[in-house]
Amino acid sequence: MSAPLWTYAALIAASGGRADGEPTAPVTGFTFDTRALEPGNVFVALKDQRDGHDFVTGAFKAGASLAIVSDAYDRKPGDGALLRVADPLKALENIGIAARARLSPDARIIAVTGSAGKTGTKEMLRACLSKVAPGRVHASEKSYNNHWGVPLTLARMPEDTLYAIFEIGMNHAGEITPLAKMVQPHAAIITTVEAVHLEHFPSVEAIADAKAEIFSGLQIDGTAIIKRDSPHFKRLAAHAEALGHHVVVSFGLDPRAGATAEALTLGEDASEVDARISGAAVTYRVAMPGRHIAENSLAVAAALQAAGAPLEKALSALATLPPPPGRGARTLLAGPGGEILLIDESYNANPASMRAALATLSAVPRAKFPRRIAVLGDMLELGPAAAKLHRDLFDAVDDAGTDMLFACGPHMKGLYDAAPDAMKGGYAETAAGLLPLVLAHAQAGDAVMVKASNGTRLGALVDAMKAHFGCISPKL
Ligand SMILES: Nc1ncnc2c1ncn2[C@@H]1O[C@H](COP(=O)(O)OP(=O)(O)O)[C@@H](O)[C@H]1O
Ligand SMILES: [Mg+2]
Repeated sequence: MSAPLWTYAALIAASGGRADGEPTAPVTGFTFDTRALEPGNVFVALKDQRDGHDFVTGAFKAGASLAIVSDAYDRKPGDGALLRVADPLKALENIGIAARARLSPDARIIAVTGSAGKTGTKEMLRACLSKVAPGRVHASEKSYNNHWGVPLTLARMPEDTLYAIFEIGMNHAGEITPLAKMVQPHAAIITTVEAVHLEHFPSVEAIADAKAEIFSGLQIDGTAIIKRDSPHFKRLAAHAEALGHHVVVSFGLDPRAGATAEALTLGEDASEVDARISGAAVTYRVAMPGRHIAENSLAVAAALQAAGAPLEKALSALATLPPPPGRGARTLLAGPGGEILLIDESYNANPASMRAALATLSAVPRAKFPRRIAVLGDMLELGPAAAKLHRDLFDAVDDAGTDMLFACGPHMKGLYDAAPDAMKGGYAETAAGLLPLVLAHAQAGDAVMVKASNGTRLGALVDAMKAHFGCISPKL
C-alpha cells in the first residue's frame, strides 16, 4: 500500500488541534460530506447550510478515520478519533497550507480563475500534465474553488505531487487573495473577465480587479497568464506587475499575444491549433469544439510552458479529452427517422459563455444537421442588468442561424419576446414546463443546443431528451 496521505502526528501539528483518540486506519483523504465519504477519509465538520457536527457519528459509520471537530463537540457513542480545534475550517486551511509547504521545490503549481472556463481549463491542464507525470498530478475536484474548496483540495494533495492545478473562484472582492496566498502558484491564469456576478460589483472593471487578486499569491518570478484580446488586458497586466516580480504572458488569437495560434481550424468536433508559445512552435488538436475552448487551450499551453512541461507531449492529451459534464458534451439521439445532435451546455451560463456556445452551434454543418435549435434558460446572478443582458443576446441567437428558439425562465422571456414569430418554438416558465414543447418539435436532422445556469435545471431536460429518444452514441 502507498504511504498514507497524512500521518496523525503531522495532522495534529498542522491543525494545532488536540487529539482525542487515535485513528485505527490510515488517512486516505478529506471530506465534509458523509455521502461522498470513502473509507479512511478525515471528516471535517464545517458549518455551512447545516452544521457538520450533526454528521460526525454518521461519518464514522461510513468509515472515517478521524473527524476534525470544534472543541465544544460532545463525543457520541460510535465516534472514533477526534481532532479538536477552535475552528474546523481554519484547521482545514492550516492543513492545506502545510500540504503546500511540504511539496518538493521541484513541484509546480498552477491556479486558474476567470469569469468562465475555469473548470474546463483546469481539466485540460490535469489531462496534459498527467501525460507528463502520470500519477503525480493533483487537481481540484469539480468546481471546488471557494473558501472551503481550495483548502480542501490543498489538504488532499499528496506529498509527492509534481504538478497541481487549483480552480479559484469568487463572488465578492477580496475572496481570491487569501486563497491565492494559500495556493502560492508558479503560474496563474485569468481565462476571461466578463459581466457575471454583477450583483456584487459596481462594474466589469471591478470584476477584473478582483480576478487579478490571484497574482497576489504568485511566487516570485511566477507567470501571470492573461488574455490579450480583452478590454481588460492592460488593467490585468498592471495588476500583475504591481503585485510582484512576475512575468506576464498574454494568450489568445491576437497575433501580438505571447501564446497565440498562427493557424486555427475550428471544426465541427474539434479544433486544430498551430500555436506559437513564447517562440516555441507546437501543433495540437482539441477534441472540444469552439473558439473559446481553443483560446483557453492557449492559456493552458502558456501555463505548461511556465511549469516546464514538454509542450508537445502534454498537449497531445487534448486530442482525446471530452468536455466536462454539461459544458458542451455532444450526444447523438435516435430521433424519429434519423439522428438528432444534442449539445449539452446545461451546467453554466453567462452572457459570454452563451455567445460562445451559440457560435459553436453555428459551426455545426447544415449538410448533416439542417435545423438549429437553441433551448435557453435563465442566466442567474446577473444583478439589476439581468433583463437587458438576456435581451441583448438576441443578436447572437440570430447570428448563429438559429431556426427555432425555446426558452424558459422569467429573464429569458424578454429574449423570447424579442424573437420573430417564425423563430419561436415555445416558452415556459420552468425547464419542466418547456420539456414537452421541445419533445414535440425535435426531429431528425436537428442540432439542439441546451444552455442555462445550473439553477435553471435544464440538465433534467437534457436527461429527459436522452431517455425519450435514446442515445445512439455519446459524441465528443
Ligand atoms: N473563454 C471563454 N469565454 C466564454 N465562455 C467560455 C470560455 N471558456 C469556457 N466557456 C464556457 O463557459 C461555461 C462554463 O465553463 P466552465 O469551465 O465550467 O467555467 P467555470 O468553471 O468558470 O464556471 C461553458 O459553457 C464553457 O463552454
Ligand atoms: Mg467551475
